[in-house]
Amino acid sequence: MKLSPRIQATATPPIPAARAWAARYQGQAGPAIDLTQAVPGYPPHADLLAKLAEAAGNPANAGYGPIDGEAALRTALAEDTARFYGADITPADVVITAGGNLAFSMVMAALLGQGDAVALPTPWYFNHQMALTMLGASVQPLPCHAEDGFLPIVAEARALLAAGARALVLVTPNNPTGAVYPPALIAELAEACRTHGAWLVIDETYRDFLAPAQSPPHALFQSPAWRDHVIHLYSFSKAYCVPGHRVGAVLCGPAFRTELLKALDTWQICPPRAAQAALAWAVPNLLPWRLGNRDIMATRAAAFATAVAPLTNWRLEALGAYFAYMRLPAAAPDAVQSAEILAAEQGLMLLPGPFFGPGQQRHLRLAFANVGLEAIAALPARLLALEAPRP
Ligand SMILES: Cc1ncc(COP(=O)(O)O)c(C=O)c1O
Repeated sequence: MKLSPRIQATATPPIPAARAWAARYQGQAGPAIDLTQAVPGYPPHADLLAKLAEAAGNPANAGYGPIDGEAALRTALAEDTARFYGADITPADVVITAGGNLAFSMVMAALLGQGDAVALPTPWYFNHQMALTMLGASVQPLPCHAEDGFLPIVAEARALLAAGARALVLVTPNNPTGAVYPPALIAELAEACRTHGAWLVIDETYRDFLAPAQSPPHALFQSPAWRDHVIHLYSFSKAYCVPGHRVGAVLCGPAFRTELLKALDTWQICPPRAAQAALAWAVPNLLPWRLGNRDIMATRAAAFATAVAPLTNWRLEALGAYFAYMRLPAAAPDAVQSAEILAAEQGLMLLPGPFFGPGQQRHLRLAFANVGLEAIAALPARLLALEAPRP
């Protein structure tokens, strides 16, 4: 039986593949450490859990809700975004979605015609590339390199836009590298998009984990003209520790919103309602907790950098938000084989670079945010085992 060539061209889900290698681990190096998926390594706030339980038990939340999300959450996120970026953002700019991944797919469905080109910096967030492949888009890699801090080169982005790319996708802080794009670079790339009549789609899932000195991360929202060519994506998964409840958001202008509503109505009907009710309370009320979590992540990042510093054959090439992106020692096998050995023999699960696009054979992504300081301290011994002679 025939299946969609587009779905067949789409990569297999990477995280289960990486975790499967650990099924062979016998426990010899200590408890397994899972640094594959970016999940906050602490529980949701107890008051948020209570609000979720209360909202889930309310029959009013069992019915369908507004296509573009609950007004209370749209208002709360508009206020939070306005505070964070120092900009004039209103609830009319906000659309709530059933998660950030679905937000990306629906945005791209609204933006693209069959076969349209999209510029995607590499290494890329694999689900972005998978969504674009599924939609029949032509993914145009925009290579980013360690020597440039994994930042896109504006001239190269311009070349892809001049060649017809309909959109440029940025993820900052970045998944997988952790790189934080400077405001001036974001401004230049936005301007390049505007002059070429292309959209800038900027995924800021990890914005709550930026250091105070890195905020606001850009000034795009300062000019009302952003609504004509910028689309911002947000996720509640990481900042509120509720990835299982599937809530994300799109910020966009009115003309794009009208078209996006067609995709929202068809694909999500409405986002999960109980979670929206609880999050509408959490956004203003848990700000101190969120800031505390940001500090926990910064402590983990610093501990990670200290822990791997003595590994002289490894290079920590980028670090930020939830992720470290490391270059393997020259003598180690390629990334996929190294990741398999680390999982099967050291109980250390992480993702090999090739899961994030072309040219990543010597890199590993470690989502250090998932684990506490004790597990971080245990990493060097397990990574070093990769350098030991193999039978
Ligand atoms: C850059 C980026 N965007 C979106 C998502 C998905 O977020 P959500 O759980 O809201 O779908 C992730 C999750 O890892 C991510 O890293």
